[in-house]
Amino acid sequence: MEMQRTAVLVKPDGLQRGLIGEIISRFERKGLKLVGLKMIRMSDEMLSDWYVEHKDKSFFQDLKEFMEQLPIVAMVWEGIDAVPVVRKLVGTTLGREAEGGSIRGDYGMSQQYNLIHASATAADAKREIAIVFHSNELFKYHSVIDSVIYADYEVKNAD
Ligand code: CMP
Repeated sequence: MEMQRTAVLVKPDGLQRGLIGEIISRFERKGLKLVGLKMIRMSDEMLSDWYVEHKDKSFFQDLKEFMEQLPIVAMVWEGIDAVPVVRKLVGTTLGREAEGGSIRGDYGMSQQYNLIHASATAADAKREIAIVFHSNELFKYHSVIDSVIYADYEVKNAD
């Protein structure tokens, strides 16, 4: 149990589909805290860093071109075990097979056009957050609902 930050990108297809509000709303209702948010057009260089683990895959160039064609909405969400929690809400990569109730399961049919990216591990989250956000664009604040989202002992144990 660990207090974590995780990176989310709403991809160009999510922007075109008008799903920004729906996606933010799902994370808010879950009890995650929004600590960073921006709309940007990612450069080729940023995407090469972001998708470094896929650099030898056949779809790497297609993936970068798709991600470059329009702006994306990048967010950082915070919470206890936020990395696996957000991955679960997002669902598995292929929209056609993603579980109902997850974002990809409810809104997507595709593998490439899968609406959203979420960090796979805490180490990936750190690396990805640093690609898009400066430290002064990330916020630490007390949320008034924290005390009904977590029991005190959970917060203490997570620090
Ligand atoms: P994401 O979770 O952001 O991580 C890598 C992305 O590559 C993935 O979502 C998909 O958008 C895309 N992707 C994964 N596998 C394939 C594939 N076989 N063909 C095309 N795109 C893919």
